Amino acid sequence: MKVRDSGMPERELWESFFQPEQLLRILGLDERVRDAAEFGCGYGTFTLPAARIITGIIHAFDIEPEMVRLTAERAAQACRINVKAVRRDFLEQGSGLPDASVDYVMLFNILHLEEPGLLLGEAARILKDGGRLGIIHWNHDPKTPRGPSLDIRPRPEDCVRWAQTAGFSESRLFDLKPYHYGIVMRRPRP
Ligand SMILES: C[S@@+](CC[C@H](N)C(=O)[O-])C[C@H]1O[C@@H](n2cnc3c(N)ncnc32)[C@H](O)[C@@H]1O
Repeated sequence: MKVRDSGMPERELWESFFQPEQLLRILGLDERVRDAAEFGCGYGTFTLPAARIITGIIHAFDIEPEMVRLTAERAAQACRINVKAVRRDFLEQGSGLPDASVDYVMLFNILHLEEPGLLLGEAARILKDGGRLGIIHWNHDPKTPRGPSLDIRPRPEDCVRWAQTAGFSESRLFDLKPYHYGIVMRRPRP
């Protein structure tokens, strides 16, 4: 089941909102990360830059075949063999990845879904102890040019509260100008 209100602007406009590599590094995605997972990869806007940074595999999931095709095509064009773009409904099927198998999970522009706890629980399951969760979302601000309607758009404190309920800790908040915020949290070590 597709996440509500998860359409995106045209690729060119969408990608004008971000400086992906810089943003990923702000959110702690660096060379110490081996494997990563991205839920709802869309155009691959963050997938390809992440693949260039990490040392292992990025598992990129999307329900839309066209998004999966485009992400895989962009990876092939960039000769990135560490992108695994997979068509998957993560709400119905989860990720299919083993427990404690990745170092970083990307939940970018997706936490306006009906059941955030479901996705955050899956992120917690697949993250290694000490692994990090990166969240991006549109600011809760009517002046943003796009984004899900404000009545379903999460504020940073909503995301932190839901993630804490799923077992995450240590939240750090970032202003990702012009229109987004970012949060990094950690799956605690036992
Ligand atoms: C708003 S876009 C964000 C894309 C990307 N994370 C980014 O920030 O550039 C949300 C993406 O999630 C995908 N999506 C929505 N529901 C999904 C589901 N249940 N399973 C997998 N992908 C889903 C949509 O097809 C879309 O590509």
